[in-house]
Amino acid sequence: MGDLVLAIDQGTTSTRALVFDASRRVVASAQREFAQHYPADGWVEHDAEEIWRDTLQTSRDAMAKADLSPAGIAAIGITNQRETVVLWDRATGETLHNAIVWQDRRTASVCAGLKADGHQAFVHERTGLLLDPYFSATKIAWLLDTIPGARERAERGELAVGTIDTFLLWRLTEGRSHKTDVTNASRTLLFDIVQQRWCPELLKLFRVPAALLPEVCASADHFGTTNLLGGNIAICGIAGDQQAALVGQSCFAQGQAKITYGTGGFMLLNTGETIARSRSRLLSTIAYRIDSVTHYAVEGSLFVAGAAIKWLRDGLGIILEARQTQEMAARLPDNGGVYMVPAFVGLGAPHWCTEARGMLAGLTFDTSAAHIARAALESVAFQTADLVAAMEGDGAGALAALRVDGGMAANDWFCQFLADILDIVVERPANLETTALGAAMLAAHHSGAWAGVLDNGIGAAGLKRFEPAMDSEQRVRLTQEWRGAIRRAMLS
Ligand code: G3P
Repeated sequence: MGDLVLAIDQGTTSTRALVFDASRRVVASAQREFAQHYPADGWVEHDAEEIWRDTLQTSRDAMAKADLSPAGIAAIGITNQRETVVLWDRATGETLHNAIVWQDRRTASVCAGLKADGHQAFVHERTGLLLDPYFSATKIAWLLDTIPGARERAERGELAVGTIDTFLLWRLTEGRSHKTDVTNASRTLLFDIVQQRWCPELLKLFRVPAALLPEVCASADHFGTTNLLGGNIAICGIAGDQQAALVGQSCFAQGQAKITYGTGGFMLLNTGETIARSRSRLLSTIAYRIDSVTHYAVEGSLFVAGAAIKWLRDGLGIILEARQTQEMAARLPDNGGVYMVPAFVGLGAPHWCTEARGMLAGLTFDTSAAHIARAALESVAFQTADLVAAMEGDGAGALAALRVDGGMAANDWFCQFLADILDIVVERPANLETTALGAAMLAAHHSGAWAGVLDNGIGAAGLKRFEPAMDSEQRVRLTQEWRGAIRRAMLS
């Protein structure tokens, strides 16, 4: 058996496969972007069959690029966009509908109704989450209520449901394995994070038959074996993408935090074996379960991070590529009093304001495209600062450092501004593929392929540090001006 690990990273806009060696380097990779479907206002769907085809193809391509046979691969790890749900027929393996994506808001009124009926406190106590269409449960119920005959068939045990990890595992194992891991289960609104099992009261509340659901395993576990990549390979790690990034960043100690900037931004603070309950509407979630020990995290989700930069390119047309923003922001002496509140789809944590809409404030005739680009970058840093303040306000204590990854983390100007506004050190790993790496590390740990993989941190040499350098008067002034802008956006 070789010591290479194949990581499948199934994200919101692309599917990737990466081969890692024991020194955590990427040996080969392949990627395919796939279609987003918007059948109605606020609805977002993916074709699960397209995701499956891309998963197989990228895995085969990555193995071919590395000239690898299955014997060279010790194990597979899977990481995935979380909360998105797929429903399929157990006998044929065929899907009954497109996947309903985490961004989809079609069940907003169901959630509002459950909230109005007073269910929020119970749901929060059991799951650590909020009643929001972002999570899986109301999406599953929508599928059962909408597809003719689906509810009856589900009750008879003829159908299976899963988040994307579960669907891919089922397909990879040709229907032999219907499993998920604790991190993905903890995003469904159906999983009791204290007892770590599906919660009967929640299944009843959301009207989801138990017969539909997968078995829940640790994040590093034997999930099954695939024979579809040229020979038998064991699947030994699964985690939702944000939790996988926490593992990939080696944030294993209580008090360590990371934020991943993709379309949105997701910050997770490891709270050790304790569930920290937020008073600031942050989520409590499972960070990972490894060797029978469960760690929890507090999570703050920003709905828009990289998407604001994409809007500069595709919506406004003021940049051709994202990396131009670095030079545009750096060439200005200051922000010129211009603030962007990127509430294009409302605001996530800690505001959770569905009605808020985006805003550009402080425009004058001196405002240039560079000011707007800088305001977009700054807005992501200010939003991150709001999450950090909420976490610290919840009693997390002052963060010693924040680790960053994802697309925007490649921007040096942004990382420096983030350190300045947070007034803490920002650390960026040399390898920004932390999500896929996390899945590979879980699989490597369980299969025994990489000795001590979870004990050896990234090490100082592998991290670039951005030290805060802004004086406190300026930091306070900028933060107050941002808070003024966000208050106005929440009135809109
Ligand atoms: O909770 C949603 C999150 O897992 C999506 O992440 O990177 O696929 O946009 P990403």
